[in-house]
Amino acid sequence: MNRNANGNGLPFHANSPSRRSASGNPFTMARRISPGRLFILVGLGFISLVAITRILFGSNGSHSSSAEQDAQNNAASDAERELKVQQILDTRTSAYSFDDFTEQGLVFPGNEHLMPATAILLGWKRLEGLKLIVSYLARYPYIKEIIVWNNNKENVLSRRDFEMDPSFGPLPELQVFNAKENLHDFAKYMSCSLAKYQHCYFQDDDWLNTHMDALYTNFLTAPNLIHTNTLPMIHMEHRRWTFTNEEYKMHAGFSWMGTGSFLPREKAQRLLEQGGNSNLAKDRIKVIDMYFSIWTNQYPYQLVNYLTPLDQKNGWSTEGVSDHWSIVFRNMLDAADRLYSALVANPEVSEKDYFPRDEDLPVIKDRHARSPCFNDKCLFKTSMDAFPEPKAVVFNGNLQTIEEQNQKFIALPDYPTNEFFDKFAYNHAVDNDPETCWNSFKAPQPGDSFGLQFVKGTALRKFTVNSSKSLAHLEGKFSVQVSDHAGVEWTICKHTVRFPTSTSMALDINCPSAPHLAKGLVNNVKIEFDQSVERSLEVCGMNVGGMVL
Ligand SMILES: *[C@@H]1O[C@H](CO)[C@@H](O)[C@H](O)[C@H]1NC(C)=O
Repeated sequence: MNRNANGNGLPFHANSPSRRSASGNPFTMARRISPGRLFILVGLGFISLVAITRILFGSNGSHSSSAEQDAQNNAASDAERELKVQQILDTRTSAYSFDDFTEQGLVFPGNEHLMPATAILLGWKRLEGLKLIVSYLARYPYIKEIIVWNNNKENVLSRRDFEMDPSFGPLPELQVFNAKENLHDFAKYMSCSLAKYQHCYFQDDDWLNTHMDALYTNFLTAPNLIHTNTLPMIHMEHRRWTFTNEEYKMHAGFSWMGTGSFLPREKAQRLLEQGGNSNLAKDRIKVIDMYFSIWTNQYPYQLVNYLTPLDQKNGWSTEGVSDHWSIVFRNMLDAADRLYSALVANPEVSEKDYFPRDEDLPVIKDRHARSPCFNDKCLFKTSMDAFPEPKAVVFNGNLQTIEEQNQKFIALPDYPTNEFFDKFAYNHAVDNDPETCWNSFKAPQPGDSFGLQFVKGTALRKFTVNSSKSLAHLEGKFSVQVSDHAGVEWTICKHTVRFPTSTSMALDINCPSAPHLAKGLVNNVKIEFDQSVERSLEVCGMNVGGMVL
């Protein structure tokens, strides 16, 4: 173990000697002492998703002939980005009502499933992004508290630095903490453990989450899980970065958290306990993001969409990018190895390690929400998963590199290629672009389904599905079903089918009134196959009761 200045092998201690805990355990200390009283010794760089996406997609690193051209491209994409962000800010509001999230509203019959959340934001150097996100989040009624944790001691922040527009509804409670030293991502989990509400929302200052309602709506269906939101290619990687061993109750998955995610406060609190028990070396505390989701021993629930970047200059670290992958992979494997060892050593939940043993529900194959609709008014759902279940690859704590894990998945029969998923990812069904399509990859089997979940209950009479291929062969092979927001109890509706063109299927729907469908409004609609279909399905656009997707 690395010994360091404070003698306990761990990176920080309370700044007042009287508060130094005898156990020298920084995580439990972090829980006990007030936020302003932490003193942290961390020195190295930092890794952000930005750096990662740059490597993956070469957005800033595309091979261009001259620096001049680079600068021009950046200026053009900056202007485009700013325009897109401005459009979102001008138009996007929540479909949730502020009245439902007052103290009285939350106990109103029918609102039992609504849950307020605390947003956790970190301050560093990009204050414009941070301010924009604070004012943006105040539009969403379920964000009832915002904690800004400022990691930058050179630039003290106060509540007066933030503006929120009260015309949307009652403003969230805003708390601003200034750290004495940079706590890096660790601050997120500490702040979340201090949150007033039982769930936290994480958001870095370099992305704008343009699908708050969709993410929240899906979070409400399984508030016990971590819910994240990422790009199609990153999702594809996350589906390989799962670590499963059924014999030892290991069912863990990696996810980046910074592009908009909901999580239970209890999981953040548990991370502090886990960290305190694990003797994590100092350089690992600041990359705790790479441990978090794996150490919940659950697969995160992840939606796929094209993220909206904000200004990403002045990040925590943009130098030495090539080195970042190895740091990410090393920490991810370390997290998985430590979890595996603990589970092998102790089959039951133990105060020694705080790793949960039971798998949270719904299990992966029952998680059908895939992508937010472009307008944030619905989610695209399907039972048809392009990827194998995580348990198809067994983790034995003996991986040398993450690439070995990738290869084990890629070697499975019928594994989709990058090109396939890039072209046919779920979000293409609901992106308002008739030229791009989702492809189910596998041919639909009886019981398979696709459909939509609406953020707000909708009266549904017409549903059109457009494809790039003929849809005529589907006739007579499916039923149309609807349900309330829980999506548990389904009602079969009568339907008639027309084919205005061979690639367009128009349904007229007539649903019987059912006690769980208040006022005939539905939150979920799905087309469920009762016979197998010979080839994979392609959906390029839909029209649901006038809403064009
Ligand atoms: C579906 O296709 C029909 C026929 O080509 C077209 O008129 C309609 O606008 C399309 N709808 C959507 C949602 O793309």
